[in-house]
Amino acid sequence: MQHDDNLTTERPSFVTHLECAMTGERHEADRVHNLSRAGKPLLVRYDLAAMRKALSKDALAQRPPDLWRYREMLPVRATENIVSLGEAMTPLIAMPKLSARLGGGEILVKDEGRLPTGSFKARGLVMAVSMAKALGIKHMAMPTNGNAGAALAAYATRAGIKSTIFCPQDTPEVNVSEIALQGATVYRVNGLIDDCGKIVADGKAKVGWFDTSTLKEPYRIEGKKTMGLELAEQLGWQVPDAIFYPTGGGTGLIGMWKAFAELEAIGFIGSKRPRMIAVQAAGCAPMVRAFEAGQEHAPRWENAHTIASGIRVPQAVGDFLILRAVRASGGFAIAVTDDAIQAALDEMAREEGLLLCPEGAATYAAYKQSLHDGRIAKAERVVLFNCASGLKYPLPGVQRTLDRHKPIDFAAL
Ligand SMILES: Cc1ncc(COP(=O)(O)O)c(C=O)c1O
Repeated sequence: MQHDDNLTTERPSFVTHLECAMTGERHEADRVHNLSRAGKPLLVRYDLAAMRKALSKDALAQRPPDLWRYREMLPVRATENIVSLGEAMTPLIAMPKLSARLGGGEILVKDEGRLPTGSFKARGLVMAVSMAKALGIKHMAMPTNGNAGAALAAYATRAGIKSTIFCPQDTPEVNVSEIALQGATVYRVNGLIDDCGKIVADGKAKVGWFDTSTLKEPYRIEGKKTMGLELAEQLGWQVPDAIFYPTGGGTGLIGMWKAFAELEAIGFIGSKRPRMIAVQAAGCAPMVRAFEAGQEHAPRWENAHTIASGIRVPQAVGDFLILRAVRASGGFAIAVTDDAIQAALDEMAREEGLLLCPEGAATYAAYKQSLHDGRIAKAERVVLFNCASGLKYPLPGVQRTLDRHKPIDFAAL
C-alpha cells in the first residue's frame, strides 16, 4: 500500500442521480446544481446494489486511512479531479476520567481539529471543490462563520478556482486571516451569516459565481457523510448509542444520517441507529425551539448571539432534514448556555488534556445536561464531535512570570 493510493487509483463512483430532499424529484448527475427545482436541498443518490457487490469491508481495511478510502460512496468520478490537502481519518478519543466522574458511560470525542484548515469543514469543502473542478466551475462564493470559508479558500486555491467569501463582522480574527492568506477574497459584513448568504445569492444572479452555501450545494453533505462512515468503521462497523453534534446549518448531522442508511443498504451495519442529538447555543437555538414545538421547519432566530460562532446560524435551509433525522433517530435538540460551554471547555482541557473548540465544548456541556435530565442514560456510549481545533480560537492569557535573575523558590512552584 502506498500512502496516496486513494488519490491515485481509479475507483468507480456509484452515483446515479440527485434527488430533491422534499419532493423526491430526480435531477441529473454530472451537471451544475444548487437547490432543487422546488427550492430545497438536493441529495446525491447511488446504485447501492452495485456498490454492495463492488465494495467489501476487507477491501476498505487495506486502504490508506483518509476520507478518500470511501471513494465508491462519494460523488467524484475521475481521480484527476480529487483536490486533496491530506484529509486524514480523525481519531476517536476516550475520556476515561470524565466518564468515571459522570457515572461510567463511555465518552468518545471525534477530534475533527486534525483535518486540513483545522476543522471538519474540510470534509464538505474538499468534496464541493473537487466536484466544482469536475464540473468546470471557475468562481465559488460563500457566506461563512469562519471555518467553512477557510476550507473553501484552501481547496479552491489548490484547484485554481477563484473564491469570494463573506463573513459576519465579528468572525474570529484567525478565520478571516487564514481565508485571506489561503488566496480567497474575504469581506467582513455588518450582519449575520444569513445576511452574508443574501449577498452571495445576489452575486450569483448578477455575476454568475457559484453559490457554495450550506445545503445550496449538493456535495458538501457527501463530504460530511464521511464522519458517519469513519465512525462506524472505527467502532468495528457498529454505531454508538448517541451522537452529540454542534448544529448550525446541520450538514454533518444530515450527512451522517445519510451515511448510516447507505451503510445499512450495502450490508455494512445493521438497523441500529445512534440517537442524533442536535446541540445549539441558548442564544441561537432555532432547531431546539422547532423540535420542542413539533414543527417541521425552524423559523429565524432573532438577535442570535453565542461564543460558539460556528453554530450561530439563525436559519437553516435544511431545517426539515435536521429535524427529521433527530426525530427519526429518537434523539432530541438541546440548547446550552455560553457559561456552560466555557465551563465544559475548561473542564475537558484541565481533566483530559484535550482542548476543544467552543462548538465542540457545547456537545460536552449538552451531554452533561442530558445525563442530568435523564435524557441520556449513564450506560450509553456517546460520541461528541469536536469539530475544530481549539487552537483556532482566542485563548485566555497567562499572568504567571518568573525572573530568572532572582533565586527561585522551587518548593513553591
Ligand atoms: C466549529 C464549528 N462547529 C460547528 C459548525 C456547524 O456545522 P454544521 O453547519 O454542519 O451544522 C460550524 C459551522 O460553521 C463550525 O465552524
